[in-house]
Amino acid sequence: MSRPPSKMIYPEQSSNKDGQRNKEGLGELPAAFAPLDLPPPEEYFQRKVALISGITGQDGSYLTEFLLEKGYTVHGIIRRSSSFNTGRLHHLYEDQHERPNKFHLHYGDLTDSTALVFLMARILPTEVYNLGAQSHVKVSFSLAEYTADVDAIGTLRLLDAIRTCGLTKHCRFYQASTSELYGLVQEVPQSETTPFYPRSPYGVAKLYAYWITINYREAYGMYAVNGILFNHESPRRGRTFVTRKISRAVAEIYENKQACLWLGNLDAQRDWGHARDYIEGMWLLLQGQGLNLDAGEQPTDFVLATGETHPVREFVEKAFGVVGIKLTWSGSGVDEEARDVKTGKVVVKVDPQYFRPAEVDLLLGNPAKAERMLGWKRQVKFDELVKEMVEADLTAVRNFVEDQN
Ligand code: NAP
Ligand code: GDD
Repeated sequence: MSRPPSKMIYPEQSSNKDGQRNKEGLGELPAAFAPLDLPPPEEYFQRKVALISGITGQDGSYLTEFLLEKGYTVHGIIRRSSSFNTGRLHHLYEDQHERPNKFHLHYGDLTDSTALVFLMARILPTEVYNLGAQSHVKVSFSLAEYTADVDAIGTLRLLDAIRTCGLTKHCRFYQASTSELYGLVQEVPQSETTPFYPRSPYGVAKLYAYWITINYREAYGMYAVNGILFNHESPRRGRTFVTRKISRAVAEIYENKQACLWLGNLDAQRDWGHARDYIEGMWLLLQGQGLNLDAGEQPTDFVLATGETHPVREFVEKAFGVVGIKLTWSGSGVDEEARDVKTGKVVVKVDPQYFRPAEVDLLLGNPAKAERMLGWKRQVKFDELVKEMVEADLTAVRNFVEDQN
């Protein structure tokens, strides 16, 4: 018995709007592969729903607080891990009774397209913040392929999940771009027009992510933007980044729990700000501040920076200064060391294992465009940042708090 012919329309049978086949016989490229039945964007945008990749990281936790305060429903993607990776979000769980149903976590991964499409279709976000990344520059030399998969192709996967669900006009996309793109800097200070010269597998992966974000904006008319953020720190910074490594060690040394702090390149200079200030900038970038979208103005990319740069050595001096320890330096290169002036003990030494195969020597951002168009300016000054970090670590060390960061 033969079956009745199916009604399936195969791609080679599809046609364009006028019923004409194109040259390849494949019809027009669909705007979405699985379009959802969505209301028009004006109605859809009445909701405020954010989806954050990298929600468990330093920036993700501050951004979650910020958006919940603004009344958003916040959805975050967390990776499966055998140990807890939600330490920076614990205080928000405790607040659940005060913010019912506004904060949701979902398993997912930037290496898993299917999960991203599924989450996008389930959550129907109005804003997507792509903060997820293998974000450690030195580690990227050891895990170059993985870093490219997560940081570069992961960004593509997230953008394609938006397209797949037909959300290109329904949600705005923030890409966590970085001053590491400038690498071997081509001008000082660095602005939105400074040419890029990345110096690590991390920087190169982020270069792809930067351009694919722009490409999707231009190709599909998406509101997709890059925030080119210079280093931003806080007590929630991961402990293998230099500022937090220093602040924790100063607290441990002061409390006699550690003898010496071992570091790499003390001459590197960074434009360090406070993470909380930069979170507000990310959000402003998605609000179309300073843009006349109705008149057809396109969203653009922004640098967020303090406009100041400081060497690692200065961060060390200031951090020890917070607990009243004055340092004196001697030697040079791998033999450089710092002693506590009062006790004569060596408290800082150099270990070449922390050097990088290719270094970024100097970062100094020019935030003029963000100041002018977004009205954004960093609030926390360098000395205040160092003080806050050291004091937070002193409290943690005294209370035997071993955070997982
Ligand atoms: P972070 O503390 O290292 O957080 C990174 C986040 O990405 C974590 O939530 C991590 O999850 C998640 N993640 C890692 N691999 C993932 C994967 N395969 N799939 C999904 N999520 C994954 O970084 P951050 O300092 O908050 O920075 C946020 C973003 O801004 C990053 O993209 C970073 O590259 C970029 N950025 C940072 C700075 C800065 O100075 N902080 C400056 C410029 C740009 P786990 O918690 O499970 O590890
Ligand atoms: N991590 C680390 N550990 N860095 C050290 C050490 C050390 O023991 N000693 C010296 N440094 C130097 C590094 O060589 C680098 O020049 C500088 O301190 C800062 O290093 P990190 O704190 O690891 O940050 P980063 O600048 O490489 O990268 C961070 O900022 C980028 C934005 O510019 C990360 O957050 C990246 O994800 C981010 O894109």
